[in-house]
Amino acid sequence: MQSGLDIIGDIGIINFHKYYNPIRKWLLAKKTLKGNRHLKTVVEKKGQISGELRTFKTKHLAGERRKTTTHKENNCLFYMDIEKTYFSPRLSNERKIISEEVLKLAKNNSKILVMFAGVAPYPIAIAKLLRKNKIKAKIYSNELNEKANKFAEKNVRLNKVKDYITFINGNAKNIKTKEKFDIILMQRPNAEDTFLKTALRLSKKGTTIFYHGFGTKEKVLSEIKKDAKNKVGKISIRKAGDIAPFKFRWQARFRVK
Ligand SMILES: C[S@@+](CC[C@H](N)C(=O)[O-])C[C@H]1O[C@@H](n2cnc3c(N)ncnc32)[C@H](O)[C@@H]1O
Repeated sequence: MQSGLDIIGDIGIINFHKYYNPIRKWLLAKKTLKGNRHLKTVVEKKGQISGELRTFKTKHLAGERRKTTTHKENNCLFYMDIEKTYFSPRLSNERKIISEEVLKLAKNNSKILVMFAGVAPYPIAIAKLLRKNKIKAKIYSNELNEKANKFAEKNVRLNKVKDYITFINGNAKNIKTKEKFDIILMQRPNAEDTFLKTALRLSKKGTTIFYHGFGTKEKVLSEIKKDAKNKVGKISIRKAGDIAPFKFRWQARFRVK
């Protein structure tokens, strides 16, 4: 019976198979702590990611008793409380791929909107890449979770990209700005609403949208076609990880007509 381990910073999060009893859980936690030198804490993931803010609860099993940590990926640092905000270390490569695609599209003065930004991994990774390539674009970061927003502000300072990022926080549906964006990232939560109406309201002709959908490829393509109607061009789509057995996250990319 396999149990899954995710590592955020120096905290190991074990998602135990349902047949584990408390003693086996504790023994595996101790072994995990001993076997991974950089880990300081091991916790159990309790229940599934849930709610609008996509968070989950944990139970301490071994090592230091804390829930805050600093995670390093793609040359960036992200400080957070693992229970108070969504963050998946499994999406590190996805963030790298999308940041590199954004780099190819961005020019000086491009306006980039990152919806559902969490602790700001996308805005920060993109800002660092743009700076390295001497492109001065403006990145707008939007997130509903107030606690995630506090971490995001700290992370922007930690990564020294304050001059690239503006926060326009709150419900994505209510984003009020006169800007029309050149690039929009929609790494959405797995929820009913596609938020495409909002993205299209903030787009102009030629805007490139990066969209995450869940389930089957056919379902994702049909929800985009339904909500974006005839306002978008050709949709390119690829698998971007699994969310459950036989259920996948899909990355779709399309331009506004
Ligand atoms: C799948 S997570 C992505 C987080 C981040 N992009 C990342 O890669 O770590 C989705 C995020 O959307 C946020 N969210 C949910 N509903 C929202 C809404 N209506 N407006 C803005 N953000 C929302 C959640 O709090 C969560 O942080």
